[in-house]
Amino acid sequence: MSFTHEKIETNNWLMIALILLVITVGGLVEIVPLFFQHSTTEPVPGLKPYTPLQLAGRDVFLREGCYGCHSQMIRPLQAETLRYGHYSVAGESVWDHPFQWGSKRTGPDLARVGGRYTDEWHRIHLNNPRDLVPESNMPAYPWLSENKVDPKAVAASVRAMRTLGVPYTDADIAQVPESIGQHTELDALIAYLQVLGTAVK
Ligand code: HEC
Repeated sequence: MSFTHEKIETNNWLMIALILLVITVGGLVEIVPLFFQHSTTEPVPGLKPYTPLQLAGRDVFLREGCYGCHSQMIRPLQAETLRYGHYSVAGESVWDHPFQWGSKRTGPDLARVGGRYTDEWHRIHLNNPRDLVPESNMPAYPWLSENKVDPKAVAASVRAMRTLGVPYTDADIAQVPESIGQHTELDALIAYLQVLGTAVK
């Protein structure tokens, strides 16, 4: 026995091969079952695909890099659930492509920010966070209220999401121009923020 061990510890390549084997088996055992569990692949009851305006807001969120400072994943730890609410479950983000879980928290987690503030609060905050939170180091996004949402881009987003398995219908796509109307990127971003985490009560 000790002989075999010595052989492994004195042979770099054998050691590397065995480490890779252990990590591969361990990784597969942890990860593969998740692909087959309903709790990780099925939407939670009550989850709705984003409306076109919310989806447009999500695209603004990605473009502006909000995820660089905000995670959207509440861990199942008391310190987090007391502050942010129910921990995040996988079924809430099955239609998020790509998901926005993240781990960087320069600002607070946003997984359940929906309904926490009024639209007006977000309007002022996104235009200049320091008007509401004097010590905030979040950037201001004054251009969002000046840019109109482009319905063509949103229709393309909806179609792309459908390709990825989000259950949008042809009727949903046909409705995009009407539901986008004259809304600005700020309206869209707020619509998105206000729905975050609201599928789980
Ligand atoms: C440089 C880091 C940074 C970036 C980038 C950033 N934020 Fe923030 N955000 C913060 C910080 C810090 C706070 C806490 C202070 C405050 O409320 O302004 C915050 C607070 C918030 C809040 C209030 C959350 C709560 O629970 O009180 C929301 C909503 C928010 N940010 C949305 C956004 C959105 C949307 C974007 C992208 C357009 C964004 N943030 C980009 C740092 C950032």
